[in-house]
Amino acid sequence: MTLEEVTAQAKEMQVHDSTPIYLDESKGNDQSGDGSSTNPYQTAVGAMLKHGADVVLLQKKAGSEEYEPISGSGQKKAKKLYDLALKKQKKAQEQAALDQQRSEGDQKRLEESKKITLEPPADAPAAQRIKISQAGSNRDTRVKVCGWVHRLRVQKDLIFLVLRDGTGYLQCVLQGKLTQVYDALTLTLESTVELYGVVKALPEGKKAPGNHELVVDYWKCLGKAPGGDDAFTNRISENADPSILADNRHLVLRGETASAILKVRAAALDAFRAEFKSLGTTEVNTPCMVQTQVEGGSTLFKFDYYGQNAYLTQSSQLYLETCLPSLGDVFCVQESFRAEKSHTRRHLSEYTHVEAELAFISFDDLMSHIEQLICGTIDRLLANDQAREFIEQLNPGFKTPKRPFMRMNYKDAIKYLNEHQILTDEGKPHEIGDDIAEAAERKMTDQLDVPILLHSFPRAIKAFYMKRIENDPAFTESVDVLMPGVGEIVGGSMRMADRDELLEAYKEEGIDSAPYYWYTDQRLYGTCEHGGYGLGLERLLAWLTNRWTVRETALYPRWTGRCTP
Ligand code: 4AD
Repeated sequence: MTLEEVTAQAKEMQVHDSTPIYLDESKGNDQSGDGSSTNPYQTAVGAMLKHGADVVLLQKKAGSEEYEPISGSGQKKAKKLYDLALKKQKKAQEQAALDQQRSEGDQKRLEESKKITLEPPADAPAAQRIKISQAGSNRDTRVKVCGWVHRLRVQKDLIFLVLRDGTGYLQCVLQGKLTQVYDALTLTLESTVELYGVVKALPEGKKAPGNHELVVDYWKCLGKAPGGDDAFTNRISENADPSILADNRHLVLRGETASAILKVRAAALDAFRAEFKSLGTTEVNTPCMVQTQVEGGSTLFKFDYYGQNAYLTQSSQLYLETCLPSLGDVFCVQESFRAEKSHTRRHLSEYTHVEAELAFISFDDLMSHIEQLICGTIDRLLANDQAREFIEQLNPGFKTPKRPFMRMNYKDAIKYLNEHQILTDEGKPHEIGDDIAEAAERKMTDQLDVPILLHSFPRAIKAFYMKRIENDPAFTESVDVLMPGVGEIVGGSMRMADRDELLEAYKEEGIDSAPYYWYTDQRLYGTCEHGGYGLGLERLLAWLTNRWTVRETALYPRWTGRCTP
């Protein structure tokens, strides 16, 4: 299309009668451009800031020679950024006006405030240092609490702040002279403070965390956080671009939602360990640096290990199997690494893998054990008041799923998918042998809306070590647990107990058996029927806390292209 034709098309499309504005991703300039085809802007938001959001935009993408109307999503994204920039501008103007006022009246007050010093009340008893979680049991005595200013409301001669120390939130009130010192007048969110005073129950009808507040009698500012442009609320906001939030994960973690998820995560790990203990399993710590693959070569992270090839572990399963003759049933909580190319909301490059291995069991035992582990862990979590409150906050109405879980054979799943017109990613009906894609699996799980033990997958789509079904050797004693909203959270199987069968399986898979000698040896020195599984902690948490993505349930999530902060 010629420039004239594109311009004409853009004019036709426009709702308002304005001249199209030109953008050139590589040669444009938001500062010196004027939006003409000869002097274009670089970005859509740059153009909007000069001409308003109601513009027709023609864009020359990097590497292209032609201007084309900007995509709907591009325009929408720019509009979002534009609105944000406007908000920022407005804030800056308000701040400037405030500064102006301050420079007149308040400046004087600020100077005066520097002369005011605080001393602890002469007759006050010594304060006991407590964490916020201990405030309830330390009411009406003098305490000292330290933390970060989570919320701040400044009124004349009165400051209300909510303090956060990681154990809870505490409303604190500062009055009189305490509010007149320089640090009080310039206090900002996320500053650290040390507060002294008495925790008082709130009168009926007033609300604050724990139904009490700290009436402060003395305080110090320990570390002032910046205000103005660098203020905490300017670094992150709820509807900021996901990549900005990811870059500022260290600050996002301070938010109430992120910290609640991490508290549930910690409690879940405690509950898993307690449940594993009651199931008679012993915890072991497995290596992260390995020279064998478990789940296929395509997702291995490779590195140089003193001149040899080594990998970050995909699963601790093979090591767990070697522990059975020594420790009996075992489990581990270990990071696993997958060089996943998939950008889905349930894939991470590093995740916390809860894995177990059990000796002398049947496939049926394995499935019952997995169900017990999940339900027993959730029961323990819900019996923990703090964890239950966080889960209720994040996922209101959550209940332990009903037992027994639905058990569905892979072949029946294929039938279900076809009967319910759930197609493959290529838009075709499913066939026996297909690896059920994530979208189809999720659709089925969401329709059934219960946890499913989906079992007996074809040999060809599963890992080399899985035991075959005795009278149906093209299929395996394998099981995935599927949860509504998330899909697969557990993958497990019975393992080949026969040495020759395993040696054959290496061959079929094209794996050199030499580095696996220690794994194969398990079948030589007293073999046994055994099986195990791996549960993705972030996926379980996404289901439990009702999060859209596993990126929200890891502390510092890693995914394709993201290894910071
Ligand atoms: O199904 P997977 O690949 O099974 C194994 O690794 C077995 N060797 C485990 C075992 O039997 N000990 O992975 C198990 C679980 C999945 O169900 C999923 O919950 C999680 O690990 N998982 C991931 N979680 C986040 N991001 C990824 N890229 C994941 N890959 C697997």
